[in-house]
Amino acid sequence: MHKIIVELDKRSYPIYIGSDLLTKKELYSQHINSKQVIVISNVTIAPLYLDSVLKQLTAFQVASVILPDGEQFKTLEYISTIFDQLLSHKFSRNSTLIALGGGVIGDMGGFAAACYQRGIHFIQIPTTLLAQVDSSVGGKTGVNHPLGKNMIGAFYQPQCVIADADVLDTLDDRQLSAGLAEVIKYGLIRDINFFVWLENNIKALISRDKTALAYAIEQSCLNKAQIVSEDETETGIRATLNLGHTFGHAIETGAGYGTYLHGEAVAIGTCQAADLSKRMGWLNDDDVKRIIDLFVACNLPTVPPISLSSERFIDLMSVDKKNIDGQIRVILLKKIGEATLPIGVNKDILQETLDTYGR
Ligand code: NAD
Ligand code: GLY
Repeated sequence: MHKIIVELDKRSYPIYIGSDLLTKKELYSQHINSKQVIVISNVTIAPLYLDSVLKQLTAFQVASVILPDGEQFKTLEYISTIFDQLLSHKFSRNSTLIALGGGVIGDMGGFAAACYQRGIHFIQIPTTLLAQVDSSVGGKTGVNHPLGKNMIGAFYQPQCVIADADVLDTLDDRQLSAGLAEVIKYGLIRDINFFVWLENNIKALISRDKTALAYAIEQSCLNKAQIVSEDETETGIRATLNLGHTFGHAIETGAGYGTYLHGEAVAIGTCQAADLSKRMGWLNDDDVKRIIDLFVACNLPTVPPISLSSERFIDLMSVDKKNIDGQIRVILLKKIGEATLPIGVNKDILQETLDTYGR
């Protein structure tokens, strides 16, 4: 088992990465300082893993909430069903909430924990690759609003993260690939050695080699932990985690939610950001090819949908949280392994990328 610490002074916490962690009773007991524990999961994950978790919690008074599966249920309404359970079981202020699931359950569980009685303890057990390498670490929690994704939320750090690579066995290939898009992101924005390792080991990752997966999760969490320690609330360097996301969000929204998984849209968006970085004179053709080739090796899409016009892209990118005074700002690459902070891009150069890359 590997242990990485997210350093945040008194709120520092460990990320445990390894095999067969769900059944390690001591991991739970070390981080639960209360009698009352509530486990939040969904209808897909609970039949697979809830029992293994509950068996480790026999010393506690335990309740569980099983939510429907899907991004469309990441709403205040379903947060309220968590509060209903907490209140009907008279859960007190020192209770612990365990989020057992992918990014949707992790974001919702964390948000419910942040709000209930102004904050109860919280443990993340991420079950998708995306959640293990990104969403479970760093304390971004929240839900969607009909007028915007992730628009209601809070920064709220967990007591620990338990990332058990074994649970990825039941994850389908498409979800695994989507998680790899976020893994590749760490190499691109700040870790050239990891990028080269990914180029050399991508076949092992796709074929679910346990050692390779554990290493990729560990390196991703190391990078994320360092970024979060430096910039918990995204006033600077944390924004580099948004590489490819401005284009990607436009693709997710423009194509209609559910057409592309988040990681798939990020893969395409990162290729567009690479093309734009080349037009800025920072990357060369070979760099861009290496990036595209790595996504292709993960079976990820690399070109935007033809139905999404450049005008529609601009329109959708104009509502991004990073923008200032109406100017579109994106994260670009100075080179492979080094990202820029959000920068306002020249309209003509952006237009060239949108008109020509993948068209
Ligand atoms: P998800 O939580 O919807 O999970 C994807 C699918 O896999 C679901 O159907 C789920 O039930 C299923 N699943 C999960 N674990 C499984 C397992 N082990 N075996 C079989 N099936 C399993 O999607 P996701 O990609 O994990 O997360 C996406 C969400 O994360 C989005 O809501 C996004 O906004 C959020 N997110 C948050 C952050 C953050 O920093 N907080 C970062 C990135 C993404
Ligand atoms: N997933 C982006 C962040 O945590 O900042």
